Amino acid sequence: MIKKIVRRIRREAQHLRSRWFQWQLRRTTRRIAIGETVRFNVPVRNGGAGSLVIGEHNCFGYPLAARLGSGEILLQARNAGSEITIGEGNTFSNNISIVANQRVTIGNHCVMGDQVAIIDCDFHELSPETRNRSAGHIRPVHIGNNVWLGSRVMVLKGVTIGDNSVIGAMSMVNKSIPPNCLAAGFPARVVRRLDEPPEKQRRPNETISSCV
Ligand SMILES: CC(C)(COP(=O)(O)OP(=O)(O)OC[C@H]1O[C@@H](n2cnc3c(N)ncnc32)[C@H](O)[C@@H]1OP(=O)(O)O)[C@@H](O)C(=O)NCCC(=O)NCCS
Repeated sequence: MIKKIVRRIRREAQHLRSRWFQWQLRRTTRRIAIGETVRFNVPVRNGGAGSLVIGEHNCFGYPLAARLGSGEILLQARNAGSEITIGEGNTFSNNISIVANQRVTIGNHCVMGDQVAIIDCDFHELSPETRNRSAGHIRPVHIGNNVWLGSRVMVLKGVTIGDNSVIGAMSMVNKSIPPNCLAAGFPARVVRRLDEPPEKQRRPNETISSCV
């Protein structure tokens, strides 16, 4: 009985906290649309002047995952014309940063590990004279449906990641990745396809030591 009551109190507390985090995000974002049943387990901040569109059934923050400080997630649409659009049913871990100077779009049912960063611009120019005068090159980023980004993946400007692809932990993605691939490394390169049977996925000179 007591256990049941404690569980219920805990659930209510989580619900209230989620409402509070959502209210704070709405209060600080000029143009925002949030779908039904979106769960906020950590604070989510915008702070920019652009627009946020968040579809249904998304979950921000995961209590058991690695967390720095409050685990805050940054969804920053920086300028008046910037937009971040997030589809439905995505799961975001803690301490993720998504910054759009122009546009970042995320499809449906994606999973993102802790400390993932997605940016659609360089924030500075290369030239020493003009480095601090503009946001440098800006090109939209698109993450497809059912994409899994491992912990600490960084996605740079102009990248599209195709549906169902997976990016290994700590990878830096500066070129687009086709659908249905595992890509990894610094910079990330396709390691194998995920839509072929396992025997085809092996490289020609590869042996299976456990069979020897
Ligand atoms: C993506 C992942 C699941 C793939 O695992 P896997 O199927 O066992 O892949 P393998 O270990 O067989 O790796 C295949 C190749 O890719 C390379 N690779 C895999 N992940 C890599 C990474 N993160 N960085 C660099 N190379 C990587 C491997 O070295 C291997 O290369 P090789 O064939 O030349 O030896 C795994 O690498 C990974 O990143 N796991 C962590 C996911 C994570 O962050 N979870 C928590 C947040 S949701």
